[in-house]
Amino acid sequence: MQRNILITGGAGFIGSHLVRLFVTKYPDYRIYNLDKLTYAGNLENLTDIENADNYKFIKGDICDSGLVNSLFEKYNIDSVLHCAAESHVDRSISDPLAFVQTNVIGTVTLLQAAKNNWNGNFDGKLFYHISTDEVYGSLGSEGYFYETTAYDPRSPYSASKASSDHFVRAYHHTYGLPVKISNCSNNYGPFHFPEKLIPLCISNIINKKPLPIYGKGENVRDWLFVKDHVRAIDTIFHNGKNGETYNIGGHNEWTNIDLVKELCRQMDNKLGRESGESEKLITYVKDRAGHDLRYAIDASKLERELGWKPSLQFAEGLSETIDWYLENQKWLNDILNGSYINYYEQQYHKR
Ligand code: NAD
Ligand code: DAU
Repeated sequence: MQRNILITGGAGFIGSHLVRLFVTKYPDYRIYNLDKLTYAGNLENLTDIENADNYKFIKGDICDSGLVNSLFEKYNIDSVLHCAAESHVDRSISDPLAFVQTNVIGTVTLLQAAKNNWNGNFDGKLFYHISTDEVYGSLGSEGYFYETTAYDPRSPYSASKASSDHFVRAYHHTYGLPVKISNCSNNYGPFHFPEKLIPLCISNIINKKPLPIYGKGENVRDWLFVKDHVRAIDTIFHNGKNGETYNIGGHNEWTNIDLVKELCRQMDNKLGRESGESEKLITYVKDRAGHDLRYAIDASKLERELGWKPSLQFAEGLSETIDWYLENQKWLNDILNGSYINYYEQQYHKR
């Protein structure tokens, strides 16, 4: 079956894995990647598929309703996989309005375009919204987030994502728009922007720079390999039920300090450094304001109803991730020295 799918934020971390999966696995689907190329968007994430026949990149803002509507019309879009967002909690603390703009206004702009262009003819249509476990708030040492857990966002980032989730459900209930939502735990893997904990520490270990640990390093995150996340999105996109929410997670909880020590151990090994050498780089710094203590996802609905399971053990996924960063230091250095920003000009304006 042919489909015309708009993927937003496809030049980011998760979006680029999603674009690659759909472009390569479904040659009959046409994939349109709409991305503003903010600091987090990097077309070097997609060099292997950028010339595929069923793929097209469009540089633009999801808040630009003229552009978004023209894409629906021109390409006869029947599905949206909405990944674009401002995604970094620390940035949301210093600039909340940027998060309201893209995560709330941008999402509603896309919903409105889908509603108007599909115009009540919802056969074969889908608006799939990619969201986060952070909308559920913060757990103590016990318990899990379920699909039924009440929303309790506590950072400007999670508040903006919660708001966007509410708008998606509102368009489903009010206008009948076919929607699906998934809320995933922390991802890790190749192409992860080095402002987030794991790639930041990998980069700093390579360069023998301090590893900043917020507070006491006791906060807990539930880590999932990014390719397992996009496999889950693929499963939900094709087999999930209209109007439903699915939690996605790895059953893989780590305190930040234990995680960073494990990274140091594996990297000392791979880099031929003395055991314990990288741990000396660990530096405790001021805590994040309003730092959520623990996230832990119960993904049993997705496992039970749609048969999805994480494919990788964490040690294996982390090792694969470290190897990727060691083999792709040009990708990392292009970000560290800012030259990745020029890729769009070089690639798309040379023709
Ligand atoms: P990212 O920051 O790596 O990428 C975001 C992408 O969106 C970038 O390519 C950026 O250029 C683009 N973008 C930002 N604003 C835009 C705008 N106004 N118009 C068009 N494009 C714009 O983010 P990520 O980590 O890949 O996260 C993708 C989605 O998954 C987000 O919605 C995030 O909330 C969600 N999520 C992320 C994680 C995680 O651990 N990274 C976990 C669960 C859910
Ligand atoms: O849970 C899903 C969320 O995971 C996604 O929705 C977000 O988009 C994504 O950024 C991520 O949010 P976190 O805040 O959990 O990820 P981050 O990598 O920023 O931080 C992970 C933990 O490590 C967190 O407890 C804060 C801590 N940390 C982070 C950084 C950047 C440090 O101790 N030092 C650091 O330098």
